[in-house]
Amino acid sequence: MHSEPMVAGIPQMGYGTWNRPGDEAYHGVVWAIEAGCRHIDTAQDYGNEQDVARGIRDSGVPRKDIFLTTKVRPENFGPGQVMPSVRESLDKLQTEKVDLLLLHWPSPQNKYPLEDYVGQFAEVYDAGLAERIGVSNFTKALLDRTIALLGERKITTNQVECHAYMQNRPIVEHCGRLGIPVTAYSPLARGRILGDPVLERIGKAHGVTGAQAALAFLMAKGMIVIPSSGKKERIVANFEARKLQLAPAEVAEIEALDRGMRVVNGAWCPVWDV
Ligand SMILES: NC(=O)c1ccc[n+]([C@@H]2O[C@H](COP(=O)([O-])OP(=O)(O)OC[C@H]3O[C@@H](n4cnc5c(N)ncnc54)[C@H](OP(=O)(O)O)[C@@H]3O)[C@@H](O)[C@H]2O)c1
Repeated sequence: MHSEPMVAGIPQMGYGTWNRPGDEAYHGVVWAIEAGCRHIDTAQDYGNEQDVARGIRDSGVPRKDIFLTTKVRPENFGPGQVMPSVRESLDKLQTEKVDLLLLHWPSPQNKYPLEDYVGQFAEVYDAGLAERIGVSNFTKALLDRTIALLGERKITTNQVECHAYMQNRPIVEHCGRLGIPVTAYSPLARGRILGDPVLERIGKAHGVTGAQAALAFLMAKGMIVIPSSGKKERIVANFEARKLQLAPAEVAEIEALDRGMRVVNGAWCPVWDV
């Protein structure tokens, strides 16, 4: 079905839609698919599932050829809430099931018990509403507990912040030991890595931009990456980064840029692994 590089059944490069309301998400999805991208990342929280669906429909590429992810927002983790919220997402997404369903965040301040909402999540999977399930922003301890709660059901990915300036090693290494692929969100640090002299130099040596080098770095580490842009030319350029092969010495140079600079952090976050 997909000719693109895959990681655990997921096209390695996707298009992210956070903070792209309405037509912005719609056009972004159409442009990404036109560029050849077959993996779209949305969430209940982004408020754009219906616009993502319009984009997929109007792209002309059959839904079955697109890998579609959505995420359950923690506000929907209350007793009996997860399944109806996913059904609502599927309605908005105009699909019978998503390819990947994630728990977007662990419940902030443990408002809802993990055992309960993971149990509900398992029921959603068992009911066939998602082809695969996974988590996002889960720490080592939460991931271990969730694996135990899910039993035979497999966690396909842990989607976490990861970019040249915040390589998130504790959780990335833990996922590596567990054989769970990492999906790197905010892979361009929301623009903050742009202009970095090392990335620019490495990009230039390959005739590409520093942003493309930054994305190729994460893919060289085996991660799935989901950059976002509202501009057609950048969407195309970002997707081209999958063709770039960095030398081991270049990967090592970018590894050395890590400075623990988290861009997504707030009161709702778990206590991160250090
Ligand atoms: N699971 C979670 O909790 C979580 C959290 C955050 C993000 N995510 C997912 O990850 C996706 C990507 O993360 P993100 O949107 O936070 O950040 P990002 O992809 O690191 O950066 C997006 C920003 O970089 C700019 N940009 C993109 N490509 C560029 C290029 N080639 N040259 C220059 N600037 C460029 C964009 O501006 P323009 O639009 O002007 O191009 C935008 O401001 C999200 O859309 C979402 O799907 C998930």
